[in-house]
Amino acid sequence: MSHANEYPELAELVGQVPMVLAQDAAGLEALRIALIGRKQGRLTDLFKTLPQKPAEERRAYGAALNEAKVALEQAFERREGELRGAQSTAAKADDLTMPGRRRWVGADHPVTKVIEEICQIFKGLGFAVAVGPEAEDEWLNFFALNFPKDHPALDAHDTMYLPGESEGGRMLLRTHTSPVQIRTMQAGPPPYRVVIPGMVYRNDPFDASHAPAFAQIEGLAVDEGIGLVDLKATLTHFVQQFFSKTTKVRFRPSYFPFTEPSGELDVECQVCRGSGCPACKNTGWMEILGCGMVHPNVLTNAGVDAERYSGWAFGMGPGRVAMNRYGLPDIRYLYGGDMRLLRRFAGGAA
Ligand code: PHE
Repeated sequence: MSHANEYPELAELVGQVPMVLAQDAAGLEALRIALIGRKQGRLTDLFKTLPQKPAEERRAYGAALNEAKVALEQAFERREGELRGAQSTAAKADDLTMPGRRRWVGADHPVTKVIEEICQIFKGLGFAVAVGPEAEDEWLNFFALNFPKDHPALDAHDTMYLPGESEGGRMLLRTHTSPVQIRTMQAGPPPYRVVIPGMVYRNDPFDASHAPAFAQIEGLAVDEGIGLVDLKATLTHFVQQFFSKTTKVRFRPSYFPFTEPSGELDVECQVCRGSGCPACKNTGWMEILGCGMVHPNVLTNAGVDAERYSGWAFGMGPGRVAMNRYGLPDIRYLYGGDMRLLRRFAGGAA
């Protein structure tokens, strides 16, 4: 048995087997033609010399030629595979010089955080948390709450109406969370102590102090013997828990159809501590909620005995609270969907 490497001219050819010089498919093909091309090629040429060899050598030389040919063919195939693999790896390869992508860690919206904290404080006072639907009818949103039929809030330029009606009249997007007062009282007998967070909708232009969709938190406490002092004490306690022990509060008389008497609660501006700044429009105060003693008509409308029970309610704007706490002069920072400010609340990352 003879071997290709016993013949120096064959050994030299097969020695090209590593073929690492061929760096691409075109180079490899050129090399293939030069070595084993069918018409000419160095090995092909050697095959052509076979008939001239002496008969006794012919057999062994022929076998060695064939062995060289197989070795070369296999080597071409291997190298071809290598080049193809290298090409697709290059296409897929990661660009190690590219800067890493910063991991985006989400966080609660500042208003969500504030709502959560407010609920927590009221839970500590024995209040439950309830929610209600955002689509209500006129009865629950207005009339059960003692609004007169011709109240301007019913105008389409204040309230967004939905197609459709129910037994309670036209459907609408609730303009406040107060209809959930009625739902709470209808769901079971007193006493009630609930806070009710949720979104509300008004047909207002979106400006520095108005948003067409914003959050509210309703509060309702109804029991025997509840008076105005409970309202003032509870809400003052709340403010001092939420802001600080020394934060000043101010109750101003106001009007709502569903409370009597009614008031509004102002909190000392947290940005200037009461001395006046753009955030509080130089008043030193920020209004955060409306409140009052639940009107007896509202208790009656909800099926609660108004002779026996009394209560108080409030409707707070957690967006206002967040603006006060974080010193934001424009409500659009909170509800405008601009991530630049909201990102600052994401786990301390700027
Ligand atoms: N619903 C009132 C508003 O949206 C707020 C309020 C709630 C006032 C409860 C008094 C009692 O302005």
